[in-house]
Amino acid sequence: MEILQKVQEQILSYVKEIADDKSLELLGLLPNGKMLRSKLILKIAGANEESIKLCAVVEMIHAASLLHDDVIDDATTRRGKQTINALFDNKTSIMFGDILYSKAFTELTKMDKEVAYTISNAVTLLSVGELLDVELSKIFNTSYDKYLDMIYKKTASLIEASAKSAAILANKNRDNFALYGKNLGLAFQMVDDILDITEDSEKLGKPAMLDFVEGKVTIPYLFTYERSNEQDKTKLENFYKKELSNDETLWLKNQFSTTNAIQDSIALAQKFGSNAIEAIKDENNEDLVLIMKAMIERDF
Ligand code: IPE
Ligand code: MG
Ligand code: MG
Ligand code: MG
Repeated sequence: MEILQKVQEQILSYVKEIADDKSLELLGLLPNGKMLRSKLILKIAGANEESIKLCAVVEMIHAASLLHDDVIDDATTRRGKQTINALFDNKTSIMFGDILYSKAFTELTKMDKEVAYTISNAVTLLSVGELLDVELSKIFNTSYDKYLDMIYKKTASLIEASAKSAAILANKNRDNFALYGKNLGLAFQMVDDILDITEDSEKLGKPAMLDFVEGKVTIPYLFTYERSNEQDKTKLENFYKKELSNDETLWLKNQFSTTNAIQDSIALAQKFGSNAIEAIKDENNEDLVLIMKAMIERDF
């Protein structure tokens, strides 16, 4: 999309305004993402100066959250490229994250007040979500409600806020678009959690099967655990936070298969996807349906 190029240019011009060579260098090292949030904003609000600026702000916030997330997760690759914490160190990643966050907030102060509130509030939720993710990774979590609350906050909140803000700019029904964004965001994180198991590292551009080693009991693990007998439950508990051997990985994959955990996780993500489509059924926006479908069917 030609217009996404304009968003990239806007980000570049914001970072140039910071007048710091290191920041400019680091921006150039960030991998290009899918720009899901920008696509939503542009499909809801149309492409104009105001919406492009909002896209740039949201993408800077998203990039900042990933700079911090890669430190939190000790991740050395993202989208097939070395992360900033791997190329430099954690300090650089954290501080560049702070620079992008604060520049985004500065630009938000020049925007519609409700948009500024909606987006900045989502950053609080996102950060609470990351903290919950850390907390939930300490001991084997078996609560679906805690998982759902955490993924809502860490991932869905900013997508919800992006869709809602675009609706505010375009004078459209903000509640419908917010609900679309929320459900799309929940489905998005579930798909991310499924792909961690079903895809290899090359495809993902980041290490595969890492979530469970990192202490994350994601939706396929919740399903398989719940459906396992006592003996297999104990085995799963023993595999938790452990580098697995090939045989152990094979056993785990077989356990996913016999408990239908992957299939049912996909079905659940699809259910949230349908909820998203349902929320905007009166809005006549076929492109948003297509974005949702492509998101569910993606393989990285
Ligand atoms: C990151 O969650 C969510 C945020 C953007 C705050 P994950 O840790 O699951 O994301 P990946 O797998 O590193 O992309
Ligand atoms: Mg991560
Ligand atoms: Mg994380
Ligand atoms: Mg992940």
